[in-house]
Amino acid sequence: MEQKILKLGIVGAGGICNGCHLPAYCKMKDVDVIAVCDIKIERAIALAKKYAEKTGKPEPAVFENYMDLINMPGIEAVDICTPNYLHSIIAVEALNHGLHTFCEKPDAVSVVEAEKMKAAAEKSGKTLMVMRNNRYMALSRYLKKYIADGKMGDIYTARCGWQRRRGIPGMGGWFTTKAQSGGGPLIDLGVHMIDLTIWLMGNPKPVAVTGCTYSMFGKTQISDSEHSAFGDKKENGTFDVEDLAMAFIRFENGATLQVECSWASNIEKENRFFELRGTKAGASWSNHKPLRLYTEDEYGTLVNIDPMPRGGKQNHEGNLVHFVDVVLGGAEPMFVPEQGLNMVKILEAIYKSAECGHEILL
Ligand SMILES: NC(=O)c1ccc[n+]([C@@H]2O[C@H](COP(=O)([O-])OP(=O)(O)OC[C@H]3O[C@@H](n4cnc5c(N)ncnc54)[C@H](O)[C@@H]3O)[C@@H](O)[C@H]2O)c1
Repeated sequence: MEQKILKLGIVGAGGICNGCHLPAYCKMKDVDVIAVCDIKIERAIALAKKYAEKTGKPEPAVFENYMDLINMPGIEAVDICTPNYLHSIIAVEALNHGLHTFCEKPDAVSVVEAEKMKAAAEKSGKTLMVMRNNRYMALSRYLKKYIADGKMGDIYTARCGWQRRRGIPGMGGWFTTKAQSGGGPLIDLGVHMIDLTIWLMGNPKPVAVTGCTYSMFGKTQISDSEHSAFGDKKENGTFDVEDLAMAFIRFENGATLQVECSWASNIEKENRFFELRGTKAGASWSNHKPLRLYTEDEYGTLVNIDPMPRGGKQNHEGNLVHFVDVVLGGAEPMFVPEQGLNMVKILEAIYKSAECGHEILL
């Protein structure tokens, strides 16, 4: 049988595209990258050349304007790797032009924008998927199955976060400019761990959110530190976002989630983690401590289990392979736009709560 091949264009040829998306597409036999767009055209040209060299396929067309890529004859899908404020704008255009759309996280910078994306996907009938790379870690997929089999019982509370000791990306550039990023570590890092934890909890509906944000290090020496290579730095640029966010989320089913995210804070070391507590078992994972389950055995003895799941396409590559499988008709989507809208509702409510000083009902 002839293999189906998806003709795809990439918008935004910066850090994440070069680091994760392009290497994945170079390996995928059912994708042809036929176009690349970046307002810094030299980046689009370099990416197109790299793709042709690595795959032996024709060099993708290059564009400065994403509308030219969207209007290119034969194009079927677009992958958006631009700064955050452009995600929804480009996604809506792509969907309105009948293209399947994959987008980097965060889904959008406001609820209004996320609603437009969801509506455009529904109207077009095309697939809209947003990067959820943490769902594709081997441990995440293992734990999801463990939970689905009822082995943790009801998960009624959880904690998660991503805290950096020193790590403000692209100081002064788009990452630290609210109008372009939508916010600081909450929208940049928090979105990853909040999504993973809520997905493991079974995607309960959020109903109320309390949050607090702080901005302590933007104008200090420590802000220019590890991870500052992400995005483009700008001398004397803008820093009008938080560098730490704390939040508490309540869900319709009574479950709760505590969240902590920072780009800079005086802690021991970077910590990316989740912890789930269920009626039959608990689970924890961090970048320092592998997945561990806490339960009782049939003798009523407390036991810890250290699963060591491996294998399968992981992280960003796993998510992109899944997107292509869905579009080409081979898989049920693991992400639906409703989940993206709920995520943006949470993020926006945390910022609103931080501003007004009380809980926000969703
Ligand atoms: N999933 C992850 O693990 C992960 C990691 C890093 C970044 N990201 C996300 O990826 C996105 C990009 O981040 P990055 O670190 O690659 O940033 P970056 O600044 O390195 O790259 C963004 C690129 O978009 C280009 N661009 C800007 N405006 C454009 C426009 N109008 N049309 C076409 N191209 C345009 C820029 O010139 C730049 O090359 C962000 O949304 C970020 O949140 C995700």
